[in-house]
Amino acid sequence: MTIRSEILGCGSYLPERCVTNDELAKTVDTSDEWIRSRSGIGQRHIAAEGEYTSDLALNAAKRALEHAGIDASEIDLVICATTTPDNTFPSTATKVQHRLGMTNGAAFDVQAVCSGFVYGLAVADNFIKCGQAKTALLIGAETFSRILDWNDRSTCVLFGDGAGAVVMRARDEEESGAGGNGKGHNSGRGVLSTHIHSDGSNYDILYVDGGPSTTQTVGHVRMNGREVFRHAVTNLASIVDEALEANGLERSDIDWLVPHQANKRIIDSTARKLGMSEDRVVLTVEKHANTSAASIPLALDTAVKDGRIQRGDLVLLEAMGGGLTWGAGLVRW
Ligand code: ACO
Repeated sequence: MTIRSEILGCGSYLPERCVTNDELAKTVDTSDEWIRSRSGIGQRHIAAEGEYTSDLALNAAKRALEHAGIDASEIDLVICATTTPDNTFPSTATKVQHRLGMTNGAAFDVQAVCSGFVYGLAVADNFIKCGQAKTALLIGAETFSRILDWNDRSTCVLFGDGAGAVVMRARDEEESGAGGNGKGHNSGRGVLSTHIHSDGSNYDILYVDGGPSTTQTVGHVRMNGREVFRHAVTNLASIVDEALEANGLERSDIDWLVPHQANKRIIDSTARKLGMSEDRVVLTVEKHANTSAASIPLALDTAVKDGRIQRGDLVLLEAMGGGLTWGAGLVRW
């Protein structure tokens, strides 16, 4: 028996307030033209005063559970990927666990910034494959607006708030392959593989200049945009090849690319390397901006709910973020 993690359902949540580039340009020295041409971003959602990461996470989690058709009592693992937790501790995951009415299982946060969802996918998948969890709730949730320096136009225009979640369950591989679409041994539904990397030597090209142990303040995002761009293009190209090679798959086998939504130019570069046309790439950066760990599950949920991603499709998830961290996951939906 080989266990595979099947994704049973997904959900997402965006705060009500939406700020367009034009609205932002009233308080920040920028323009819609500059932001769109450099990043592809047109607007972002911003959490309301008193609305926390755990609130966004809870809403996304409830929607994912509903879509999966399961009750919170069936979950035995809650992972929240976030860089903007409500508090330094306890984890945002334990807050969500409590508010879902759960008293069993384990809950913890994963911190890999924009790669957080892919890191969380790897952790949840490994917990499930080794038998330590049966049904996992994986959330990516951020209130990045709270760690932005609104006087730094080179960073504050790029990010937004939001949350997305998936429900994953252990299933026997042969069973999950039933009804496969004839694409060989990788036709069984579920997570085919995950691949994660980090290199701390470049921590200072994207970081927050505060923290409990250093300044005892929360701090703000600092970024060398050009360097981040350069590393993103290289690392993402190598991680997608690593994921395909591990599964004996070709670039042409991918049905959907669901990338971290940092910047349209970075996404276009990865898609070009994969030889994928734009209509096979899920793009939400225009509407959501960069929501860090929430961006992949937000994009995934968008494309599942509008019917683009269908059962049996091969979906490639990839991300890079501060650390530097980067990773990919291949999922047969
Ligand atoms: N509005 C108007 N002008 C601006 C703005 C702004 N919001 N921000 C910077 N500028 C100006 C600069 O001051 C500079 O002016 P100058 O030439 O007079 O000095 C000019 O625009 C060019 O600035 P650069 O930083 O060189 O602009 P660049 O073309 O490199 O674009 C950007 C900047 C968009 C940040 C780009 O480097 C990038 O996309 N990097 C990737 C960063 C990223 O996506 N980070 C997300 C987190 S990491 C991740 O998720 C992968």
